[in-house]
Amino acid sequence: MALAQESPDAQLPGLMCHTVGGYRLSDVRVVAAFDVDAAKVGRPLAEAFTAPSVSATKFTQLGIDRDSPVLPAPLLDGLDGPLGTLVETSAAALETTSESVAKALVDHEVHVLVITLPTGASQAIRMFAQAAIAAGVTVVNATPEKLARDEDLRRRFADAGAVLLGDDLRSHVGATSLHTTLIELLISRGLVPTSTYQLNVGGNTDFLNLADASRSASKFDSKANALRAAGLTDVAGAAGPTGYIGHLADTKVCFANIKATSVLGSELEIDVKLTVEDSPNAAGVIANAVRAGQTAVDRGLSGSVDDASALLFKSPPHGLPESEARASFLNFAS
Ligand SMILES: NC(=O)c1ccc[n+]([C@@H]2O[C@H](COP(=O)([O-])OP(=O)(O)OC[C@H]3O[C@@H](n4cnc5c(N)ncnc54)[C@H](O)[C@@H]3O)[C@@H](O)[C@H]2O)c1
Repeated sequence: MALAQESPDAQLPGLMCHTVGGYRLSDVRVVAAFDVDAAKVGRPLAEAFTAPSVSATKFTQLGIDRDSPVLPAPLLDGLDGPLGTLVETSAAALETTSESVAKALVDHEVHVLVITLPTGASQAIRMFAQAAIAAGVTVVNATPEKLARDEDLRRRFADAGAVLLGDDLRSHVGATSLHTTLIELLISRGLVPTSTYQLNVGGNTDFLNLADASRSASKFDSKANALRAAGLTDVAGAAGPTGYIGHLADTKVCFANIKATSVLGSELEIDVKLTVEDSPNAAGVIANAVRAGQTAVDRGLSGSVDDASALLFKSPPHGLPESEARASFLNFAS
């Protein structure tokens, strides 16, 4: 993504911050994307949305140049597991190197790179982080891969004068936000949570990939981090992706249960179901994260930025309860 001054955009539903560090959404330009999918690579980004593997149904053309290309990236472990049965690898991706990714970042004058690779594709995700360091580009890590929590990587981003925000995007009003907000409510009223679980099913390629246990381990860890930051310690808990149901497509369904002890030892139990469109639920947070990354650079910051991270990610270097994270982000964004 690159940043350019354009006309003010209207107030959009669900977009928490009209401006972040003075940047409107219309200041963000998507100048290029990388992929390995033969149905996307080599096409203009605005057309690649029609690839058969894409189940999202709502797209913005805001900030996407007509000729923004989808460039090839090295495959590495990107399509390991079930994804490899659905997505055909582009021939160009098999010949691409991390050096060409770094060069493309420079040639397209990218300021902020958003990593949205499949969970568990550690080699490919880390390759993008290395390319960003080489190009001095700020990264938003939407995946649960430990990048912002890796002290050595944070230092290398700082040495390159770039910012590293992550890890694992916290969807706008998603399973994690709802679950941690309810836990925070109970704890704030003096109740003692005794057990909890969070089940999630969906039918897009993210859920297909997460159906493979070797790919989903980091997602379970990341959701556990978010519950700990909300104040849950020494409590029986489980949270993670629990199934791929193809006909749900981009619909994600979450069931969360919390039990707690209240006044005079009385028991309280909450059961909630949340149904959302998965992709747009991430888009609003990415819109904030991209502008936060550039704002941090404008302010002379580098490496990880705690004030910008705790609200936007499930596993930031330093997690906070939702209300503290929100106050910290809004203060940073103003
Ligand atoms: N609501 C959300 O969408 C959401 C929320 C929080 C976190 N995340 C995380 O963001 C990540 C992406 O999720 P998604 O729903 O966009 O997944 P997705 O399956 O829609 O997209 C992954 C993309 O990566 C591409 N890819 C695979 N290997 C690659 C490589 N080597 N180089 C470049 N591209 C490659 C795939 O072809 C695909 O286009 C996941 O880690 C997910 O857990 C998503």
